[in-house]
Amino acid sequence: LLVAAATALLMASGTAAYAQCDAGEIVIKFSHVTNTDKHPKGIAASLLQQRVNDEMQGKACMEVYPNSTLYNDDKVLEALLNGDVQLAAPSLSKFEQFTKQFRIFDLPFMFKDIDAVDGFQNSDTGQKMKESMKKRGLLGLAFWHNGMKQFSANKPLILPEDAKGLKFRVQSSDVLVAQMDALGANPQKMAFSEVYGALQQGTVDGQENTWSNIYGQKFFEVQDGTTETNHGVIDYLVVTSTGFWDGLPDDVRTQLATIMKEVTEARNAESTKVNAEAKQAIIDAGGVVRTLTPEERQKWVDAMKPVWAKFEADVGADNIAEAQNFNM
Ligand code: LMR
Repeated sequence: LLVAAATALLMASGTAAYAQCDAGEIVIKFSHVTNTDKHPKGIAASLLQQRVNDEMQGKACMEVYPNSTLYNDDKVLEALLNGDVQLAAPSLSKFEQFTKQFRIFDLPFMFKDIDAVDGFQNSDTGQKMKESMKKRGLLGLAFWHNGMKQFSANKPLILPEDAKGLKFRVQSSDVLVAQMDALGANPQKMAFSEVYGALQQGTVDGQENTWSNIYGQKFFEVQDGTTETNHGVIDYLVVTSTGFWDGLPDDVRTQLATIMKEVTEARNAESTKVNAEAKQAIIDAGGVVRTLTPEERQKWVDAMKPVWAKFEADVGADNIAEAQNFNM
């Protein structure tokens, strides 16, 4: 009933456009938390849905629930394991309960850009990470890109000292908590859907996110400005349950895997452009974007990079070294 009500609401507001599934089709519910347009994940999820529903008629049917309408990221992995949804794509920061390996993606200044992230994810080490939670019942199907993170706050952020004492929303990751501690800021873990209200009401002073999320969630409207730090990355694991995946008929699993691979390659190649457009849209809407001199940026590096040492045992010194090769 709840889902039916949510569906009716979504249809009415025109934000979800999925086909009604026919009898006999395997239903694949895909829950995620971002908006659908001008967003790397939203666009990729819509394309995946469209291709599955066009090409797998009579076999499978996909329903995408965006904007946290079905689950927040802190609930969705449990929902996957319970069989309430079949696909999700939480950011890599949100798997801490299941694996510590992904902490490498949260370490500040680990990757210089999304191309470096892409290179590492496509290495043997990266590809193995998709299978690192199989024992816990989760299987990664693909890495999807969003982009590099920027800081925003209710006052200008130019030097690390400017963040001192401010409350920052972070995703549910202890690495990100340590990163904000290193700045002398007060980190607060919070669901994505709550951030706009918290910034607006002043429950938190600032946050870190990609251009597409800062634009899509309108964070820039309730912040003094955004500083282009590119200090970290938000990327996603498209994840399913091993129970669902292993239970699929072979032909369905193979076709789904092929569509997933093609959508991943097509949309990952566009993620940087989507974020650049979101950044421009913020500026066009009157949002303030601040850039740093190389000297100013280096001060953020000096303040935050010591966090690596704390998590080296979790992520592996060899993996850190390998990741650095992709920054060359
Ligand atoms: C966040 O919580 O800030 C992001 O992980 C949201 C998202 O899915 O991009």
